[in-house]
Amino acid sequence: MKILAIETSCDETGVVVLEGAGDVTNASFKILGNALLSQADLHAPYGGVFPNLAKREHQANLVPLTVQALTQAGLYVDEEGITPSQEEALSGIKDVAFRGSIQELLYTIQAPKIDMIAVTHGPGLEPALWTGISFASVLGSAWGIPVMGIDHMEGHIISGLLEPTGNDYELRVPKLPLLSLLISGGHTEFVYMDEWFAYERIGETKDDAVGEAFDKVARLLNLAYPGGPHIAALAARSRSRGKNDIVFPRPMANDASCDFSFSGLKTAVLYKLQKMDKISEEDKEHIAHAFEDAVRDVLILKTRRALSERDVGCLVLGGGVSANDVVRRGVVDLVQNEFTDIPVYMPDKTLTGDNAIMIGAAAYLRASSGRKPNGPLVATGSLRLS
Ligand code: KG4
Ligand code: ZN
Repeated sequence: MKILAIETSCDETGVVVLEGAGDVTNASFKILGNALLSQADLHAPYGGVFPNLAKREHQANLVPLTVQALTQAGLYVDEEGITPSQEEALSGIKDVAFRGSIQELLYTIQAPKIDMIAVTHGPGLEPALWTGISFASVLGSAWGIPVMGIDHMEGHIISGLLEPTGNDYELRVPKLPLLSLLISGGHTEFVYMDEWFAYERIGETKDDAVGEAFDKVARLLNLAYPGGPHIAALAARSRSRGKNDIVFPRPMANDASCDFSFSGLKTAVLYKLQKMDKISEEDKEHIAHAFEDAVRDVLILKTRRALSERDVGCLVLGGGVSANDVVRRGVVDLVQNEFTDIPVYMPDKTLTGDNAIMIGAAAYLRASSGRKPNGPLVATGSLRLS
């Protein structure tokens, strides 16, 4: 089964053509075409993602990235003309330039031989989500291909289950129940999956997401957006020197739940900076180090709690912050020392951030389990796995 997958929930535009085989017991995914464009540099001056700018960029990039992915996949077959029903499918697109570019795409390409279009329908920034959904819906109706909406966080869970095999992937077949720790710019949560596609949230952040905390602390230290990698690089320099006298609190460490809180940690960094008269590069490195340690410790002690409280067959990490080496090492150490019979799966570094591969893989696993695309697609910024 060939799937065209589209991801536009935040500041990456991703378009992928993948071919899935097998099912949840043995699936594999061939990446036939892959086009990904990050807008991070454009949002950097705002210190975060600016929704209407994200939407405009997705509108400008979706058609060229789709042409690129379909061409790589050998599915771009020239045509000259557009049918009345294709013309009608376009009428739902309000933005004139966006409609024009999709019209040109439909005019020049034959309906590709794909079986399904998958698109992220939430959670995320609604103007950004709508762009991907409108695009997917027009292509779906113009080409007569079903469109399946996929939850972005389900994608992040699946990303942890993809074992790279060269350019392709094999499913790391999870022993259920699966516990996922999802750590991204918008989310910090434990999601428990007892059976495929049935989710229970057993803990989440009460305020900022962990990636958001990285981004806010980065801003306090005058580092560019997205802050995670910059903080990690500074922290590594402090770590290599060894000694660090700065210690930040571990918020909610003694709380009996699997919930998190990160806004107090960001405030602790702010107070620390306010108390220092001159901040050297070395001070910044120590602060980044102490902040990263605090984040890691909280993530680890809450993961210990979740693993102790629940029957868990495997632990899966997902989301942008799962790229962080200190967090990855902390999780591996925890499991190797205390939960030796629980395998832990982490996304390949190329799949920690937002991408369309995880969306296409999730759609394939759903389709191969007999799930059909359901109902009209609506962008839901606060969509929650259930
Ligand atoms: O999953 P993602 O790409 O987008 C969302 O769905 O939110 O996550 C983005 C977040 C940003 O907050 C970014 O600062 C953080 O992931 N991030 C990191 C690292 N790389 C990205 N945080 C800590 N360490 C990293 N190496
Ligand atoms: Zn994400």
